[in-house]
Amino acid sequence: MSTTQMDRIEVRPFGPFGAEIAGADLSRPLSSEAEQTIRAAWVEHGILLFRGGDNDDDAQMRLSRVFGEMEASATADMNDPTNRFMMTLAYDPDDTAPKFAQHYNVDGTDRAGWLGWHWDQAFMPTIVRGAVLRMTHPARTMGRTGFADAISAWQRLSPAMQARIANLEVVYLFNPDFASGQFGFPSDIRPLPRVHQGGGGSGFDFPPVVHPLVIEQVETGRKVLKLSPMHARYILGMDRAESDALLAELAGMLCDPEHAHFHEWQPNDMMVWDNWRMVHMAEGVPLDCRRSARRTTIAGDYEVGRYLDPALDRDRQVKRLVD
Ligand SMILES: [Fe+2]
Repeated sequence: MSTTQMDRIEVRPFGPFGAEIAGADLSRPLSSEAEQTIRAAWVEHGILLFRGGDNDDDAQMRLSRVFGEMEASATADMNDPTNRFMMTLAYDPDDTAPKFAQHYNVDGTDRAGWLGWHWDQAFMPTIVRGAVLRMTHPARTMGRTGFADAISAWQRLSPAMQARIANLEVVYLFNPDFASGQFGFPSDIRPLPRVHQGGGGSGFDFPPVVHPLVIEQVETGRKVLKLSPMHARYILGMDRAESDALLAELAGMLCDPEHAHFHEWQPNDMMVWDNWRMVHMAEGVPLDCRRSARRTTIAGDYEVGRYLDPALDRDRQVKRLVD
């Protein structure tokens, strides 16, 4: 069916990357033509916005499956009790035992939920294909999510820089202490005293991994500046000072706010990102400001990541994290 529905779908680019999809009725199954249109728009634009309205869990599940198999959520304690593919990401100032108890002051504002620029799970050898975030309860102030496009970032590099970095590899190591991050972080970030005990930060088993600095988009062959600044450490085999300078320059280029999109959430907006291409960041919210979102993950493995230690099996089971 639904030629009618197909005809109503409209792709509205909102900048150099990113597009809003209008006219997709997610309260019922989409036609295969509609799904193809949406997938093609995702490959072309990198992020897709489906404006809020009546979007609910069912709509989010239906949309997520357009892009591939779904991956069970990272941690059982955040999963929906009746749906292992759905998790809640929330900040509640009244929660006396929050999962994430470490907050930061960034740019002079105390914030919960701040995250630096990254693609999800850069500290793993396998990288999920994408994710859908639905903002069920937007923050009354702040709470934006930033997106930056690693294809256009590559295109902004000089030919000399493109040639220099084409075959480099980057080592990543999970870092639970954002204030000690090296690349893509603001200079004025400091951790706040922990108000509550508990929350993440210990017991992780994430050995260092290696990812190429440049990949090609699978569907189009376009080059991607595949850098995730938040957990990046150094360029494999390069002098450390040279590596630090190069990664800082590339992170600045990739995450330049002039070329980024910062989404202002409306209730039940859904944003889908291509995690093999886009980087994103979370602005966070003031400490007295509630915010809640639902998140689903699209499975995948781009197959070129590996552990730094060749003795480790890249398919070994580890506890995944949400970032
Ligand atoms: Fe993320």
